[in-house]
Amino acid sequence: MKIIHFSDAHAGGPAEDWLAYLDKRWVGVFNFNFRRKFQHDLSMLEKTVTYVLDVKPDLAVCTGDITSTGQPGEFEKALKILAPLRDSQIPFIFIPGNHDCYVRHPKCVNAMKSAVRYLNRNRIDFDALPSVIKIGQIEFIIVNESFPTNLLSSCGYLRKNSADFIKRICSSNKTCPRVLIGHYPLFEDHPLLRIRHRLWGQKDVLNLLKDGKIDLSLCGHVHFPNSRINERGRGEICAGSVTRNASIAIIDYDDKKDIFNCENFSLKI
Ligand SMILES: [Fe+2]
Ligand SMILES: [Fe+2]
Repeated sequence: MKIIHFSDAHAGGPAEDWLAYLDKRWVGVFNFNFRRKFQHDLSMLEKTVTYVLDVKPDLAVCTGDITSTGQPGEFEKALKILAPLRDSQIPFIFIPGNHDCYVRHPKCVNAMKSAVRYLNRNRIDFDALPSVIKIGQIEFIIVNESFPTNLLSSCGYLRKNSADFIKRICSSNKTCPRVLIGHYPLFEDHPLLRIRHRLWGQKDVLNLLKDGKIDLSLCGHVHFPNSRINERGRGEICAGSVTRNASIAIIDYDDKKDIFNCENFSLKI
């Protein structure tokens, strides 16, 4: 079973209403105009969609941050590029990242929720997360860790109900591999992860990953690709930013050997 995983496209744009200057969006818009727009190349997302349609994996996964400040116009930009993948026959899972859940403004929250519904072809509702879905030989646990935060924080939260849900799923007999799909890395000691970028409440779930109750964790948030995989192909894969490094991850599950072959891959090459 082949999975193509990508993340962190960060489509951006101007402030879409004057209220943006009263909440965190002005920071994100400033950040986009003076930094991100020179670092992130949206044509790489188009290239990735073409690549996925070409390879026809058994599943494509996007682990969030398709926008910079979660404004409706930014979602529109990203969804337009993702539409051919969404409308294809290839199963597709999308979860939002902290930039997609940037502020509490109802216009932004509604745009994020409808992007989750649209990209997941109405099979996943943001308010119904976490959830479990079986595709092919693998069980996927899909969890949201992203909520609006204060001006300086990019932290995520694995809330108690989500952690309890994952623990409950993992306490049942494992009959097939389990893959967790979230936005944030569970491992804390990545050199690029600073205190204001960490995922709170992840300890118990990280232990489930270390104990093999979860086979693989797919995440983004960190913009440089990074895999921490053991000899049996178990561990965590951070795809990196698809528009910053043209990076994607390709995961092949060999059911005969019960091994995941994981590769971080750049579409620039
Ligand atoms: Fe990001
Ligand atoms: Fe993020």
